[in-house]
Amino acid sequence: MRMVGVMAVLMVAGGAWGQSGGPIQNVAGRKTVSLNGSWQTIVDPFLTGYYDYRWQPDAEHGFGANRKPQSKSELVEYDYDRSAHLQVPGDWNMQRPELLFYEGAIWYKRDFDYKLEPGRRLFVHFGAANYHATVLLNGKLLGEHVGGFTPFSFEITALVREKGNFLIAMVENQRRMEGVPTVNTDWWNYGGLTRDVQLVEEPETFVQDYSIQLEKGSRNRVSGWVRLNGTRLGQKVTVEIPEAGAAFAVTTDERGYAKVAGEAQLTLWSPENPKLYEVVVEAETDRVRDSIGFRTIETSGGNILLNGKPIFLRGITMHAEAPYRTGRAWSEDDARTLLGWAKELHANFVRLAHYPHDERMVRLADRMGLLVWAEIPVYWTIQFGNPQTYANAENQLLEMIARDKNRASVILWSMANETPLGEARLSFLSRLVERARREDPTRLITAALQAHYADETTEMMDDPLGQFLDVLGCNEYVGWYDGPPEKADRIQWKTPYDKPLVMSEFGGGALQGYHGDELTIFTEEFQSRVYQHQIGMLKRIPFLRGTSPWVLMDFRSPKRTLPGIQDYFNRKGLISERGQKKAAFFVMQQFYESVEKEGPPR
Ligand code: GCU
Repeated sequence: MRMVGVMAVLMVAGGAWGQSGGPIQNVAGRKTVSLNGSWQTIVDPFLTGYYDYRWQPDAEHGFGANRKPQSKSELVEYDYDRSAHLQVPGDWNMQRPELLFYEGAIWYKRDFDYKLEPGRRLFVHFGAANYHATVLLNGKLLGEHVGGFTPFSFEITALVREKGNFLIAMVENQRRMEGVPTVNTDWWNYGGLTRDVQLVEEPETFVQDYSIQLEKGSRNRVSGWVRLNGTRLGQKVTVEIPEAGAAFAVTTDERGYAKVAGEAQLTLWSPENPKLYEVVVEAETDRVRDSIGFRTIETSGGNILLNGKPIFLRGITMHAEAPYRTGRAWSEDDARTLLGWAKELHANFVRLAHYPHDERMVRLADRMGLLVWAEIPVYWTIQFGNPQTYANAENQLLEMIARDKNRASVILWSMANETPLGEARLSFLSRLVERARREDPTRLITAALQAHYADETTEMMDDPLGQFLDVLGCNEYVGWYDGPPEKADRIQWKTPYDKPLVMSEFGGGALQGYHGDELTIFTEEFQSRVYQHQIGMLKRIPFLRGTSPWVLMDFRSPKRTLPGIQDYFNRKGLISERGQKKAAFFVMQQFYESVEKEGPPR
């Protein structure tokens, strides 16, 4: 059992925050030095850099020690300086042809110098590493992180030296039955340091985390909290919104914590007016600026209310697949392209499937006025009876909420996608729902469920998990996996719940540029037909309050092997991975334009 077993227990029990005392909120708003760029790497499929030949952890001879021979006779069987490089951020699969399908470990190494003045503190922050990271600095283990899509950091104040630091991260992306996700996913297992790596310098006592939002149900009362980290935990802290002429003075307690509450006259954030305010969190020893929007989100019976008004979510789902180059998306350019296409569709909503995307996506959605469904990769058949799997899922949930809790665009936390019914699953997910509500009482909770046929033409949405959710998500493929496109004309939908439904997936595949008659599958004509009949059905669902068809752009998947058509791409995109719009894009665009002009279907 690798040390990860111990570390993972420690970490997951206390969250990955154990190493540095908790997540650092809004890293972009702090003093940082980027470690992005070319890292030395060793591909290590047999974990030779971790275990000895008896499969025992061997830190002394492991690759984490970065040993050099001390004489011409000494045996050292690795050498970062003579090894290949990889760009960080970036999955390894798309950087070298031999790594396209690679599932295993790769050791990354980056040298850096850093002059840290006395009384200052230094952290290393990872935007994400898929799937399991073991991190060392100057040969000392900092800690481990499990989960491929959420940030984590380690304090290195006591270890960093002015010259000659070497930071090593072993990243493994082997799929695991007990993992989150498990071994079976319909997306590419992009491994590596897939997001930014940066050094974050802080004063001895700093503003580590804060939540500044509107109080649930209020449009003019700000509510939240601040948390300091350091030795001077009792400080006067002011949370200021200068443009609104609001300032809330608090004093943090012996734990460095203080609640924030007060009135403020604010222009509410919305897709039509994505108003963001500069918020300044100023303590005696630190100050952090952020850009935060204020809005309310709630349900009332079968309606979703944004700022007290019913809203219909004109959405689209998307993977974090990089437009044009493919691979894991992470950059501002990737975010602008993907969300720009959503806007072209006349969307006001995006479902970021099936895991937290790069923070740039939710910050850009804040600025562009796109509502966000955010989710953790509790996907398909994870091990619902395994306590470790639950702890892992909960940790990823908490890390997602920790990172994005100040983003007005994020309105839905999704707990799961297409998980099979069962007692263990219901217990697992209802517990996760409860934990999400406790962590963030301001947002709505959902999950992508599946319906079943009550009779030949009635789709029934009565998943028992629905009783715990605010908004029902549902994935259905009438006309693709489920009958011909015309079948949708005969289907009606029912539910015992008085709750809004977002049809969180529907659609079909087409190879862009492949044309033929409407009966030829994978032609653009066939895909368009699926959408036309789907839209006819969706308009007849009385409790429908949003749609997010699957999927914005074609994406790589090891499951999609049909030569000449899929070639390891899932082709359900409305746009090809080369940015070419398919006919179905315009069918969906026309529907959303009509909803925008004439109002929602009901
Ligand atoms: C499922 C699943 C997606 C998958 C899609 C498909 O609904 O949620 O992750 O890619 O169907 O079959 O294309």
